This record gives sequence, C-alpha cells and structure tokens, in this order.
Amino acid sequence: MWFARPVTSSDADLSSIQTPALIVDRSRMDTNIQRTEDRCAALGVRYRPHLKTAKSIDVSRLIPSATSHGITVSTVKEAEYFASHGVSDILYAVGVTPDKLGRIAAIGEGGTTVRLSIDSAAAMEALREAELGVIFDALVEIDSGEHRSGLLPDDAAIVALARALNGGPGTRFNGVYTHGGHAYEARSADEIVAIAEDERASVVHAAACCEEAGVPCEIVSVGSTPTLVHASHLDGVTEARAGVCVFHDLYQVALGCCAVEDVAATVLATVIGHQPAHGTVLVDAGGMALSKDRSTRSLGPEGDCGYGLVADLSGDVMEGLKVEEAYQEHGLVRGPGADAERLPLGSRVRILPNHACMTAAAYASYHVVEGTSVVASWPRVNEWV
Ligand SMILES: Cc1ncc(COP(=O)(O)O)c(C=O)c1O
Repeated sequence: MWFARPVTSSDADLSSIQTPALIVDRSRMDTNIQRTEDRCAALGVRYRPHLKTAKSIDVSRLIPSATSHGITVSTVKEAEYFASHGVSDILYAVGVTPDKLGRIAAIGEGGTTVRLSIDSAAAMEALREAELGVIFDALVEIDSGEHRSGLLPDDAAIVALARALNGGPGTRFNGVYTHGGHAYEARSADEIVAIAEDERASVVHAAACCEEAGVPCEIVSVGSTPTLVHASHLDGVTEARAGVCVFHDLYQVALGCCAVEDVAATVLATVIGHQPAHGTVLVDAGGMALSKDRSTRSLGPEGDCGYGLVADLSGDVMEGLKVEEAYQEHGLVRGPGADAERLPLGSRVRILPNHACMTAAAYASYHVVEGTSVVASWPRVNEWV
C-alpha cells in the first residue's frame, strides 16, 4: 500500500500527511524573520510586516515588530482577523470600496487603528459620505514608479489631499506610503538599488511638501522585499513593509534577496505515475496546488524554474528537477533523473514555489515542520469576506 495514511499526533511527519499540502519550515522562517528585523534596525526604520503572504496570526506572533509596531494587510478580512487576535495597528494598503467602510469602522470600534490608503479626492469624499460617526485614519499613496496606483511624487494633489484629510470631518491624515513593486522587473542588483532610492526619495519628498504646507506627516512608509534587501539607505523614512521575505521563494532567489536554502514555504507532493517515454514523473500537485505563477519564465531559460523546483523531504533541491507542466491536479516533473528509480510511485517531494503568496493562497493551513517532523498546524485567513 503506497498511498499516504491520515496524519495522527503520534506519527506526524512528512511521510504521513495527505498531499498536496503546504509546508513551512520553522527554522528557515525564523531566520528570515530575524534577518528582516535586523535589516530594518540597521536601516533605522520600523518594520511593518505585510501579512498578505503569511495570512496567519501564528506567523505574526513570531514577528516582534508586528506586535510592537503594527502590520500591513491586503484585504478587509485580514484586517478583521488580525484585529480579532489583538493586533492594534493595521495599514490596509489597497484602495477601500465604500461598501467596506462599515467593516472598517467596526474594527476601529474594537480598539484597533486601521489606516486606509487614499490616492484621489473621490476616495477621500467616500470616507466623508459614509457618515458612520467615526474618524478614518488615512495615508496618501505615492506612485514611486510602479504605476499601479498612487499619485506621482510631484503631484500637487498630494498636499491638497493631506490638508483635506487633516482638516476632517471624519478623516485624519497619517502620512504617505509607496510600494516599489517595479523592483520585480529589475534584472540586476544595481537596478534594484536605484529603484529602492526612487522609492525612498518619492515618499520623503512628498512628506516634505506636506510638512512645508503645515500638515504634519507622521508616517513615511516604503516597502517591498527586494527594495528592503537592496536599499543603500532609508534616510527620512519611518517604516518599511515587506511580506514575502518571511517565506521567500524562487523569484526572490533570482532577485538576490535570499539563497535557495532560505525558501521556507514548499508544497509537499506525492509521485502518482510515470511516463518513461517522455521522461516524466507525475506528482499530485498541479496548477491548483502550486499556482500557475510563471514569473521565473521572464528570467530566460537559465532562470526559468517552471512551476517550481523539486526538493527532497528535507527541503534540499534535487539537482535539475522541476515541474515543467501543470494541469489542474497533475504536475509533470522533468529533468535529469526524472524516473521511477529516483522517484518511485508513492515517494514524496517538496516543491519550491515561484511566488509564495500565490501558492500559499490555495491552502487553508500550514503544516509547520522542524526537519521532517510536523510540529504544528497553523490556519490561514484566505478569501475576502
Ligand atoms: C502596498 C504593498 N506594500 C508592501 C508589499 C510587500 O512587498 P513584498 O511582497 O515584496 O514583500 C506589497 C506587495 O505586494 C504591497 O502591495
């Protein structure tokens, strides 16, 4: 009988849990967290972890700054969840829709500060028109070059918005923030250093304009994993938000943010078949279990990791093996030694993801491992409502 048995508390190891499963390596994650805390301390900024990657109070509790300073989230559901677990300061770093303002107000009534993201007069007016009898805290979002959202650093609307938010009614201006997400398009460390400087300079400039206009700017916030890792300095910035650095992934390896041995989140999969004529080993982790994120394809044939690199149960990469194709529930592993001798039916592997945030989103919980022993199960807060 080769298939997995259900896990029990007495035999909880990686050979006994149902696959596919999301695994987090506790010691790798602890190291990643400590490195990020140390990096922020060295740069003289506070760390406001973005918990859109981990979506877990158990992970949050292991990040000292999450408790002492605050966190960032990407959904109102995350904000509700973390507030219900006692997190007292939350930046919701996505534009809010008016129909969600009642939920935001309810979180605030429970004693948690939720800081909203505003980049237009219309968005600010929506806070006023909500007439919920609360004061909404808000940061103005700056576009430091990604061109996803926010106002360009020289836009006069920044000061106008800051002044209007500061003057109320129903609103309070907290500061400015930006996300240097265009660092993901960079192809060298020098390019990321330059983008990190653009990211820093954009918010420091916007904050100075607000201060000159007499509007105090308490928070000056930057953040992405690549820019935090590569920034040469963060003078004038008060806090950095990075999220994926807690787990890291293959794209972060490619950007020089970590080593492959630092990747803490993997997918446990079982070999379910072979196609010797095609050099294929089939695993039970396809697009649903790994995500169809193919971001490493943009790195060219040398850097392309397919849908993920294959590692053994200890998390050590098996040279040359990657998931080259992903159907809904089938993953097709190819590469030197992709055969039944090396990977017999029923054997198990761990797959390192291209993009940890996307891969983790498919799972309701983590199996936390020390070595190959499963030591805990941590729930995640997925979805939106
Ligand atoms: C607004 C904002 N801040 C911070 C981050 C964290 O960046 P990373 O995932 O590179 O750690 C993100 C990621 O998308 C983001 O959108």
